[in-house]
Amino acid sequence: MATTLHLRSESKALEHRSALTPTTTKALLDAGYKVNVERSPERIFEDSEFEEVGATLVPEGSWKDAPTDNIIVGLKELPEDKFALKHTHVQFAHCYKQQGGWQDVLSRFPQGGGTLLDLEFLTDDVGRRVAAFGYHAGYAGAALAIEAWSHQLTHPGEKLPGVSSYANQDLLLKDVRSALESGSKKADRHPRVLVIGALGRCGRGAVDLCTQAGVPDENILKWDLPETKKGGPFSEIVESDIFVNCIYLSDPIPPFLNEESLSSEKRKLSVVCDVSCDTTNPHNPVPIYTENSTFDKPTLPVKGYDDPPLSVISIDHLPSLLPREASEAFSQALLPSLLELKDRKTSRVWQQAEGLFSEKVGTLPETLRGAWQSAADTVKSVTGTA
Ligand SMILES: NC(=O)c1ccc[n+]([C@@H]2O[C@H](COP(=O)([O-])OP(=O)(O)OC[C@H]3O[C@@H](n4cnc5c(N)ncnc54)[C@H](O)[C@@H]3O)[C@@H](O)[C@H]2O)c1
Repeated sequence: MATTLHLRSESKALEHRSALTPTTTKALLDAGYKVNVERSPERIFEDSEFEEVGATLVPEGSWKDAPTDNIIVGLKELPEDKFALKHTHVQFAHCYKQQGGWQDVLSRFPQGGGTLLDLEFLTDDVGRRVAAFGYHAGYAGAALAIEAWSHQLTHPGEKLPGVSSYANQDLLLKDVRSALESGSKKADRHPRVLVIGALGRCGRGAVDLCTQAGVPDENILKWDLPETKKGGPFSEIVESDIFVNCIYLSDPIPPFLNEESLSSEKRKLSVVCDVSCDTTNPHNPVPIYTENSTFDKPTLPVKGYDDPPLSVISIDHLPSLLPREASEAFSQALLPSLLELKDRKTSRVWQQAEGLFSEKVGTLPETLRGAWQSAADTVKSVTGTA
């Protein structure tokens, strides 16, 4: 019998992205899967685009009553609720790193006999993430940074107005190109942009945006580990106009900039886009802000800097600015793994995800482990293992 995937309609406000796209849905259908797609008012893809490739449209929220052998596919968290989950869910659940409320989120799966296969932890043979949204985060972050720089020049003293998702990347690029042209005309030069983490997913996106928007290559400084080895703070950052931080912070490092480096007379820096957004991490190497900005208010002023002003963009959901392209790239990267779902009991990537789920359930208090604990107890009593 065909394995059935059930694509949830995302419930998080303003989430237009989707784990499956019409293209990847078609590939799954061609490979013999059945794909049920919930109608969705927010998804960037029209319901009809899925129907046209052969998917079956089903009502929004119908995953709860789907047959238990259906695999429920989604992107972000399930709506907050308490009922026990009986299905296998493929999604980001944000409950494996002891985030606030993790026990409530995770315990629903073992209590209903369900399984969580968390997208954040799917890795390939060499431990790299199978699918991530980094490229479009960097692309969108650099776009907003250039717009903010230009806005400072063309509308002194005014904040960058709110932004919302673009129907496609070309429309964003058109806006950024026109902003860059006005800003560069006013400044009588192009901005110098320094990207740190330039070899990673976010960093490559940021560099590509700068290039495509028209920043000359000699004005785009691409730094990665070798350039920051000597340890910050770095004068090159404050002497650039725009700094886009895209590193993956794994260990504590000295700050990339601080009050002292920012007080330099040579400071040109007026926009920082912290794509990495390690806002609450005590080792955040961009320690000049304490809260995240949003699409509504993309920039936050850094107090005490007026000439030039200094603004920070610290949006933690940047890929949502480009939901269509971000979804397509993510879903294409995920597709080879999705195609193994029908054999998931022998597939390395899904077995690893299931193993991690069991490990995390094992860290829940016993009273919250429900059916999973009873099954583990049965195995123990039959095999005599402790
Ligand atoms: N703001 C958002 O919406 C958003 C979206 C996606 C990802 N992110 C975050 O962006 C960060 C980067 O993600 P990614 O997928 O690009 O990671 P990645 O692993 O693909 O790339 C990180 C890059 O940073 C470099 N790097 C690490 N430490 C460095 C240092 N000290 N100096 C210089 N370079 C250094 C690495 O060599 C690598 O090239 C992560 O923290 C991720 O959570 C944010």
